[in-house]
This record gives sequence, structure tokens and C-alpha cells, in this order.
Amino acid sequence: MKNFKLIDHPVIKRDLTTLRNKKTPSSLFRPTLRRISIILAFEAARDLKLKEFNVQTPLEKTTGYDLKDTIVLVPVLRAGLGIIGGFLDVFSNARVGHIGLARNEKTLEPMDYYFKIPQRIKGSVVFLLDPMLATGGSGSAAIKFLKQRGAETVRYVCLVAAPEGVKRILKDHSDVIIYSAALDRELNNKGYILPGLGDAGDRVFGTNE
Ligand code: PRP
Ligand code: URA
Repeated sequence: MKNFKLIDHPVIKRDLTTLRNKKTPSSLFRPTLRRISIILAFEAARDLKLKEFNVQTPLEKTTGYDLKDTIVLVPVLRAGLGIIGGFLDVFSNARVGHIGLARNEKTLEPMDYYFKIPQRIKGSVVFLLDPMLATGGSGSAAIKFLKQRGAETVRYVCLVAAPEGVKRILKDHSDVIIYSAALDRELNNKGYILPGLGDAGDRVFGTNE
């Protein structure tokens, strides 16, 4: 799977274990997810293009670098809000959009309830942020909305992906690259990822506590 990148990192493996543990309260879940998000941001940015400029050190002139492309970050509400802080630590100049999607518990189809993204998205590198890629219905819809508004380069960053969701995204959007900290086994009959970490939105916001 050329466009699926598994981010294999010992710190991610350690931290993801904390997130999977059902005893981890949201007070620990949030900072742990933020730390993993920083590593994911670095890895998903590995092949971004640079532009050069001159910089004056205290001693002499040298070549400096900045990212060539503008960056747009788009967390999917709610759970994507758990990732945005770490990404903003890495891309402090980024513009941020929001897409609100909620899965219908019975049909598993996503229902969109909010959409606000920056005006100029064409030509930017767009990072779509959502910890869970389950059936892929939410991700596929979010990418479709972004493309309708002019997005050309979309990178989908998640924490835990199910094979079913990866297949769906790559089939619907063969130009999108997926970055994930884990590829889990399968979905259960309620559309939850196994072994997974449960409902990511609930775990981030403590709505299950
Ligand atoms: C979760 C998750 C994804 C979606 C993944 O959100 O954050 O957006 O499910 O499932 P899918 O790949 O099958 O579409 P949910 O709809 O539970 O909303 P929430 O973040 O507000 O809890
Ligand atoms: N959404 C979640 O938050 N968790 C899952 O396992 C699947 C979808």
C-alpha cells in the first residue's frame, strides 16, 4: 500500500499503549495524544519542500530554510481536536479549518454538522486530522468536502486505522497519503476498531467518565 505510511516509533508505541489502556483518564489521555501528534506531524512533514533564504547568525551570513508550501490543518470534530495542539506546536503558521462529522451509530454513515475552512486552500498542503480511521466513511466525506473547496494535496493523519478504512480511503481518494501510528486488526459489528482505544472523542473529552 504505497499511500499508507505506518509511523513506527518507540515513543509512539509506548504512548499508544497508554491511550489504549481503558484505565487512562482524559487528564492523561490528552497530553499523551498531544505528544504523539507532535511526532506524527514531523513524520507527515518529512518530504515537504523547502525554500532557501539568507539568515544572519551572530557571526556570519548563512543559508536558512522555511517550508515552501502553506499549511492548512483541518481537525475533524470532535476527536481531531485532540491532535490539533501538537500539530500547531510544529506548524505555528498554519491556518486551521474545522469539519464537524458524527457517525450515525446504527448506519455508521457520517452526518456533517459544521464546515469552516480557510478561503485560500488551493495550492496548500492540507493535513486532515482525526485519531480514528474506522470504516473510512467520515474520512472519505471530509476529503470530498475539502476537494470541493479546492484542496489539491491532502494528507490524512490518524492514530489508529482499521484495514477496512484504509482500503476505503485509498479507493475513494487514490491521491491521498494516509499516515497512521497503528494499523489494527479489524472492526467489530458496531464499527469500533479492534483492539483500538474505544470512542476517541469520549476519551479526549471525558464524556465517558
Ligand atoms: C469518530 C472518529 C472519526 C469517526 C471514524 O468520530 O473521530 O471521525 O468516528 O469512524 P468512520 O471511519 O467509521 O467514519 P464520531 O463520529 O464518533 O464523533 P465524535 O468525534 O464527535 O465522537
Ligand atoms: N470511532 C472511534 O472513536 N473509535 C472507533 O473505534 C471507531 C470509530
